[in-house]
Amino acid sequence: MGRLLPELERFSSSLEVDFELYPYDIAGSLAHARGLASAGLLKPTQLKAIERGLRRVRRELDAGELKFRESDEDIHTVVERRLTEITPAGAMLHTGRSRNDQVALDLRLYSRDAASELITTVAELVDALASRAAQHAAWLMPGYTHLQRAQPVTVGHHLLAHAEPLLRDAERFRHAYEAADEMPLGSGALAGTTLPLQRERVAKELGFQRLTANSIDAVADRDFALDLVYACLATAIHLSRLGEDVVLWATAEFGFVRLADEIATGSSLMPQKKNPDIAELLRGRAGRPIGSLVALATILKGLPLAYDRDLQEDKPAVFAAVDSVLDSLRAAQLLVAHLEFDRDRLAAATSDTSLLATDAAEALVAAGTPFRKAHEEVGRTVRAGKLQVPWNAEASLRKRDTPGAPNPRRVAARATAVRREAARLRQWSKTHPPPLPT
Ligand code: ARG
Repeated sequence: MGRLLPELERFSSSLEVDFELYPYDIAGSLAHARGLASAGLLKPTQLKAIERGLRRVRRELDAGELKFRESDEDIHTVVERRLTEITPAGAMLHTGRSRNDQVALDLRLYSRDAASELITTVAELVDALASRAAQHAAWLMPGYTHLQRAQPVTVGHHLLAHAEPLLRDAERFRHAYEAADEMPLGSGALAGTTLPLQRERVAKELGFQRLTANSIDAVADRDFALDLVYACLATAIHLSRLGEDVVLWATAEFGFVRLADEIATGSSLMPQKKNPDIAELLRGRAGRPIGSLVALATILKGLPLAYDRDLQEDKPAVFAAVDSVLDSLRAAQLLVAHLEFDRDRLAAATSDTSLLATDAAEALVAAGTPFRKAHEEVGRTVRAGKLQVPWNAEASLRKRDTPGAPNPRRVAARATAVRREAARLRQWSKTHPPPLPT
């Protein structure tokens, strides 16, 4: 075959983006080569030469020594081209394999790693939130609905309200990991192979739980990437809501937190300003994974089975979502660790008795008044400025003692349980995925 026009080579190249996949490409190639050898398709000497060659390509890539060529279309061609320069046995490596199942494999290996790293990083932020929550389990603050002061809660309860969604995000990443955990090699371009490939052996070598069940689906499917990006998006949304709370709390109007110098920025013009840029960026960065999900869904929609080159566009979307959310999670952890709550301002904001109007209505209910009537009666006294409640916000919180309620004892207990959960997640990530072949 002749060569593509140079401008079109540049247009179709994905090397700049999929370069990131090289550790997976090489691990996948090692496993594939060993599979070929055990199927009798490579001689032991050829396998040795390929293994040695792939390790050398890996070292060259690690060291940034490998020179790319105009004709290097993607990372898969680079690895194979270089290997073949090192050893003639390199020409045997692509036996029974297509770049279609190869790229599906690489992206699955990447996705397992990314999901696991995201779980660790989510767990670290959860732990930071829960440890701050434990310190502030009994610190009063007004809880809000419609951004209007509603009822007393505690700072610890509110911080844990940001930790809980992140625990759910960790579950979403677990699911994305499971979705990626299927081995596609052996699917060939789309129709499998006539050669006796040992798919189970290759899957075992790469630590996959399952084999893909259909060779067409195996090269066409990017659901696992959608799952990963969606989990990133959900996490980013949660971080944006945390960021927004910090932005509000740091205003003079709220005054609930002071931003330590380590987490605040100044204004280039106004000398008195201390700005919550980090929290604002947690809000603003959510745009990236949202964009990635839209991009990926758009690429996949209506795409005929099996592989189409459109699928090459999956990687910029996936990598951007993963990188941006990992970055934001780490920034959020530092932000949370450095927040300084103003106990007096928080208590003052909670001291208004009208925040106890619901308590007053519930006291009437406990004495036998139907709730609707109690609501009306208390509403009238509040409007007349005559609400008397014989207990304060602290006492109100002690009485709020159902599971999930902001009773400080329950908040402290939940903080401990959340920290335990975070430790369990980190532990899981240490053993997933299993180490790749070298
Ligand atoms: N660079 C391609 C991608 O990322 C690899 C697969 C190419 N396959 C092909 N038939 N052109 O999707």
